[in-house]
Amino acid sequence: MNAPFGVRQFVEQLPKAELHVHLEGSMRPELLLELARKRGVSLPADDVAGLRRWFRFRDFAHFLEIYLACSRCLREPEDFQALMTDFAAHQAAQNIVYSEVHFTISTHVGNGVNGDEIAQALGEALTTAEAESGVLIRLIPDIVRNLAPAAADVTLEWALAHRDKGVVALGLAGLEGVSVAPFGEHFALARAAGLRTTAHAGEQCGPESIHEVLEVCRPDRIGHGISAVEDPDLLRALAAERIPLEVCPTSNVRLGYAESVARHPFERLRRAGVAVSVNSDDPPLFETSLIDEYQVLAAAFGYSRSQLGELARSAFEHSFLDDGLREEYLERFDAQLKTLLETTV
Ligand code: ADE
Ligand code: ZN
Repeated sequence: MNAPFGVRQFVEQLPKAELHVHLEGSMRPELLLELARKRGVSLPADDVAGLRRWFRFRDFAHFLEIYLACSRCLREPEDFQALMTDFAAHQAAQNIVYSEVHFTISTHVGNGVNGDEIAQALGEALTTAEAESGVLIRLIPDIVRNLAPAAADVTLEWALAHRDKGVVALGLAGLEGVSVAPFGEHFALARAAGLRTTAHAGEQCGPESIHEVLEVCRPDRIGHGISAVEDPDLLRALAAERIPLEVCPTSNVRLGYAESVARHPFERLRRAGVAVSVNSDDPPLFETSLIDEYQVLAAAFGYSRSQLGELARSAFEHSFLDDGLREEYLERFDAQLKTLLETTV
């Protein structure tokens, strides 16, 4: 007879993939303090408790301000390497065997850091992490829609130049409500060059924002997409065309786009037949982790272990891994899930 197994232990042991997590937004307070000291950046707090108080976001603009302050502490290639190494260790500790990591290269190039040196540093950190802990990490440089198209040019060029360093897709982030029209061509060029695509939409704005991004950028996946729940036709289209949503429940609560996890549209989206994956977005900034995200969803919606297993499978299924490798990950996942379901009560 096996000992009773809690939801948290089950989720901890479940092999997981994460499709929506930002590298800069994964900077733990301890590393942020270390980098700020090293690079002479002054922050409004000089201890972890103070930083946690700073991470109480009034709204999205306030969040972006803090996000950019964290980004300013990354000055040298070794800083990026340290961040990626720390990130990889935390993914490995959570049994997240595959991650697609959003990254805002244009911010750093705008801060005067050399883009090729950043790519080299990140590439080395990825390779070392894979060799040492077996976790596979891929990069998604994001265009920032509230910045000028010149910054988007930098992002696209960097994405195309560094596929050998782990870039798999072009993304879009930043302030919704700013037109995406200037970026349609960037997405078309990325697609033509064989990159995959994803775009944040339907997080800060209503379903019209998802329609706009689908028309202009034609992404393979949508980041967040939670306001689709307000538009039954859109829900049907997302389900029929198999456009998956990368959902980040705690992020939505912390930024004020959902009242609570219990009232979050996650379950309504899933029931409408839309493919959803579970993600943490900017974990230390929202004081969460991928394990926490599965756990709060299980508590809010009463998911069984096999339902949690299906959710975890969905992330592998909708990953931007090459077809052959995705199949390998899925086969391994299915075998591990079967064992886990059989050996835990
Ligand atoms: N950049 C980092 N996190 C983001 C989010 N949740 N939405 C849009 N842009 C972001
Ligand atoms: Zn995001």
